[in-house]
Amino acid sequence: MNDDKGKKYHTITYGCQMNENDSERLAGQLKALGYEETGRLEEADVILVNTCCVRESAEKKIHGKIGELKRLKTANPNLIIGVAGCMAQKDRDRLFKRAPHIDLVLGTHNIHQLGDIITELNQSRGRVLAVWDQAERLASDVPTVRKNNIAAWLPIMYGCNNFCTYCIVPYVRGRERSRPLGEVVAEAAALAARGVREITLLGQNVNSYGKDEADHADFADLLTAVDAVDGIARIRYMTSHPRDMNARVIDAVKNSRHVCEHFHLPIQAGSDAVLKAMNRGYTAADYRRLVASIRTAVPGASLTTDIIVGFPGETEAMFADTLGLMAEVRFDAAYTFLYSQRSGTPAAAMPDQIPLPVKKERLRRLMDLQNGISLEVNRGLVGTKAEVLVEGESKNDANKMMGRTRTNKIVIWDRTGGEKAGDLVTVAIDAAQTWVLKGTLV
Ligand code: SAH
Ligand code: SF4
Ligand code: F3S
Repeated sequence: MNDDKGKKYHTITYGCQMNENDSERLAGQLKALGYEETGRLEEADVILVNTCCVRESAEKKIHGKIGELKRLKTANPNLIIGVAGCMAQKDRDRLFKRAPHIDLVLGTHNIHQLGDIITELNQSRGRVLAVWDQAERLASDVPTVRKNNIAAWLPIMYGCNNFCTYCIVPYVRGRERSRPLGEVVAEAAALAARGVREITLLGQNVNSYGKDEADHADFADLLTAVDAVDGIARIRYMTSHPRDMNARVIDAVKNSRHVCEHFHLPIQAGSDAVLKAMNRGYTAADYRRLVASIRTAVPGASLTTDIIVGFPGETEAMFADTLGLMAEVRFDAAYTFLYSQRSGTPAAAMPDQIPLPVKKERLRRLMDLQNGISLEVNRGLVGTKAEVLVEGESKNDANKMMGRTRTNKIVIWDRTGGEKAGDLVTVAIDAAQTWVLKGTLV
């Protein structure tokens, strides 16, 4: 079917890696209809905004962007504007009321329907609301357009069953569903055959991979199986939950050839009272033990985390526990967030919501502490050599190249001309900043 040949699409993606992968699947369906991608909004026939609602700040930004698209619709009434993803799943037809220039609202369980819906919209204009309450099938087999030929996202499971009390994700992504191991391995092999060097296995809680079915392979089995795929240089995964991280997974990382020595383990808070109120299922002491066992098993591994400040009821003393844990563990990096009230979640209804100025002041202190630690940790790497996967030109300087270490640190060096994207090279680290290492190609 090529009625749509010559037409163009543009996608705008917010949120996590799962959303980026969904956008690739949305683009893949448009491509299958004959659409081409355009970087210019003005020449697009279809614009898709793939949305996130994890925090209010994300939602505000997205509403602003959707508002901006109105002038394009006025200029070109044939333009199709679609809003997909987590905010679409949450707000449904309320989005039409708020922004009448939207043609399509596509929920997180309806990604695979885009191709049919666009065909329908091109035949008879009107509005389409496609938001199922739950997944009826795993939408793994839809065509995918990948922008990056070096690194690829590979979803291994969808949804989340954890219901951390602050979090909207389980409500907009549904229950946990794991893809069969054979299917994941086959996709990894297909990616390797196309020259992809790095694969990131995606799930909201990859450590519970397979737990939704009896006799299913678990995450350690999956890591071992993907590690055996020829041609993949690096394997990463996002995100692991500290409660479910276990010795089998740590051993699988340790004994693998390609799984990177990087552990992203969101702690969220350093106070046991706060962790309990968050329903995280571990204590600060559990977390410390986990870090110790990782550092013993995989020396030199990097460790990153997510932290929320200003959870309801968080006192200054509870916040001090978070600072204390941060100083003790010495993360390589931390992604820090102001607690954001998400309506419908248990925490949104808790008493003692923390005023914004208090949250901001705590965030500032937390970031200052972590920035100092990140710089010290990175300075400790000056004088060492690192294996770097070349990603391409540095964004700010065409004479420089950029890549990442196995520990997921960004490295920048002067281009020699011999290195190209996808190569594994060795870089001698000469200087360190908070977020970047600088070096010389060996
Ligand atoms: N499934 C992943 C992360 C999903 S969201 C995990 O469990 O680690 C990514 C991060 O956003 C979370 O780790 C948390 O730190 C943050 N986050 C989630 N809900 C939030 C909220 N209501 N307010 C502020 N930060 C939030
Ligand atoms: Fe949200 Fe918790 Fe699930 Fe992560 S594990 S997506 S923070 S509910
Ligand atoms: Fe956002 Fe949805 Fe991901 S809410 S963080 S895009 S799962």
